[in-house]
Amino acid sequence: MSVTLSPSASLRTASSAAANWSPESWRSFPIKQVPTYPDDAALKAVEARLHRYPPLVFAGEARRLREHLALAASGKAFVLQGGNCAESFSEFSADFVRDTFRVLLQMAVVLTFGAKVPVVKIGRIAGQYAKPRSSDTETIDGVSLPSYRGDIINGPAFTAADRIPDPVRMETAYFQSASVLNLLRAFSRGGYANLHRVNRWNLGFVERSPLAERYRALAERIDETLAFMGACGINSVTAPQIDETEFYTSHEALLLQYEQAFTRVDSTSGEWYDCSAHFLWIGDRTRQPEGAHVEFLRGVRNPIGIKVGPTTQIDALENLLEILNPADEAGRITLISRMGATKVQDHLPSLVRAVKGTGRTVTWMSDPMHGNTISTATNVKTRSFEAILTEVQGFFDILTAEGVVPGGVHMEMTGQDVTECVGGAHQLTEHDLGARYETFCDPRLNAEQSLELAFLIAEELNSRARSLKKAL
Ligand code: PEP
Ligand code: CO
Repeated sequence: MSVTLSPSASLRTASSAAANWSPESWRSFPIKQVPTYPDDAALKAVEARLHRYPPLVFAGEARRLREHLALAASGKAFVLQGGNCAESFSEFSADFVRDTFRVLLQMAVVLTFGAKVPVVKIGRIAGQYAKPRSSDTETIDGVSLPSYRGDIINGPAFTAADRIPDPVRMETAYFQSASVLNLLRAFSRGGYANLHRVNRWNLGFVERSPLAERYRALAERIDETLAFMGACGINSVTAPQIDETEFYTSHEALLLQYEQAFTRVDSTSGEWYDCSAHFLWIGDRTRQPEGAHVEFLRGVRNPIGIKVGPTTQIDALENLLEILNPADEAGRITLISRMGATKVQDHLPSLVRAVKGTGRTVTWMSDPMHGNTISTATNVKTRSFEAILTEVQGFFDILTAEGVVPGGVHMEMTGQDVTECVGGAHQLTEHDLGARYETFCDPRLNAEQSLELAFLIAEELNSRARSLKKAL
């Protein structure tokens, strides 16, 4: 395993930084979506402490994920990225982490069966705390306060005190991320993810859902397959993948003071990595080619996601690919389409065609969440299962028609039995939303809706794989 050095040692060994780039070069570029910290000395003190803390992930792990993403670009793997819209300090418990992890594992198993290729699992977890906002202020009953920007920046309560950006929150986010990641590593490697336990992941309220039978039937097929493989001498000693899984972390690289603090040089390659997560993405609001967020990410060697929305222009996208991946390395760039069910047909085909025309390698993913947020008559933010499914299907159709591989899906979901998105097997309606509406930001699919979506996507992948086979 490569060792990631502390920044003071690493500055002496950095060998291959991008031209005119340094971990702090973003500071002289125009920046959007940043908080104004009232106390600069307090901010600097926190940043100095963060610089000394150990990295959360290793460069070698990020490199391995890059290789997996390169496989997804060519159809030899499929990516499942999912988790909370925003993690929070108050929902910090082993149960929450386990439940999210468990649903992601279930979804991955279902998708593996459909896609017949390995599923690369990436959580929006262990660092997903900073949120871009459409408006700088929030107004309730005539009172305006700065918007909530995620627990790493300010507090969610609608009070003047809570909304003041506090740099110490970055430290809390770091320690919480370290703790969550520790648990995830134990779940992934310590036997919980063993495929022999697939049946036992199906716990809790999903057991009472119409999907439970379907999942149980799948689990039985897996058990049978494992028994057959065991009889042939393939077991967790000869194939450790049966016993453990690889699980990667990701978040939006939004709060650059935090990201800079964890940017270290990898001793093996001499390259810079942002060691706050394996995969980092640039949001739809901060993807300006001339902006600070792009400047920061251009110099770190992690795999990078770029959200691609209805306002993305072909020129700007081509420009971004040149800035962020000049050597056209496979696995470096994942384009995450988030158009909305009604816009995907209008906006995505020309972008897919243009990127294909450049000859560059990218991994295309669908985020069917962020273009489908709507407000109910009583002003509750929700998403419909129907629209989410329509967008994913549109994404698959468009990419297939353009001769491009659909590489994965990106979800906002939770392992809890929340009522935030309407539709799905239980046909949640707007009237049900009040029952358990718990998100700190966008509405998430609950565990049952997530699993249902995975089954539907798996069917889609399966029938595509079959028709492809027939055509050959
Ligand atoms: C997100 O992924 O949480 C997000 C804010 O997405 P986007 O930048 O695509 O709106
Ligand atoms: Co969101």
